[in-house]
Amino acid sequence: MSSSFLQSIERGRTAVAPSVLSADFTRLDEEIRTVEKAGADFHHLDVMDGHFVPNITFGPMVVEAIAGIATRPLITHLMISDPAKYAEAFVRAGSSVVSFHYEAVAEGHQDIIRSIREAGSAPGLAVNPDTPLSSVRHLLGDIDLLLIMTVFPGFGGQKFIVEGLDKIREASALRDEEGLSFVIEVDGGIKPDNAGSVREAGGECLVAGTAVYRSGDYAAAINAIRG
Ligand code: DX5
Ligand code: ZN
Repeated sequence: MSSSFLQSIERGRTAVAPSVLSADFTRLDEEIRTVEKAGADFHHLDVMDGHFVPNITFGPMVVEAIAGIATRPLITHLMISDPAKYAEAFVRAGSSVVSFHYEAVAEGHQDIIRSIREAGSAPGLAVNPDTPLSSVRHLLGDIDLLLIMTVFPGFGGQKFIVEGLDKIREASALRDEEGLSFVIEVDGGIKPDNAGSVREAGGECLVAGTAVYRSGDYAAAINAIRG
């Protein structure tokens, strides 16, 4: 089965997904429109529950509000302890992709993936920097997006963990070997000066929060990250 998200991905062209986390929330409407005009391919929405990560952001109401103004698809990144309970609410809120963390639940990953797909979004799975790819290997055939974290989740503006590049290479090789189709999204600490190495390793959708929203020129930042 090929989701509309997979169909929207142009293989071989790097997509850039600015993370709304670093936008100016007092002017969210304007920020969304400006980043789209600047060339954003997707919006990356960081949902944090203060439990899975030590920070709290926003829930489905805000995702729905963004969906109402955005013309680019939403990739929702759930950093929450109970994705089984809440993932569908983020589907209904208008996310094209709903990703949850492998580490959030001890079992039932397949059920959550299925529930996201059945509710109408593309399922994504996120992995922390210290989770080896071998842990999620059995799930890679069921997802549309693998979100490789290059920082420990919780905050924008952290330093890129360079060891993440090996995991990106490994995921890319494994996908080719096994004929799978998940998109490789990379998230955390991506800047114009390290984006080239992420792209070379096999990163296809590059998330950038501070590097875009805290720059003076969104288009220049997006173009530099896209390469
Ligand atoms: C971190 C979030 C990231 C974050 C990226 O927990 O998942 O998406 O917003 O921000 P930068 O690009 O500033 O590292
Ligand atoms: Zn994120």
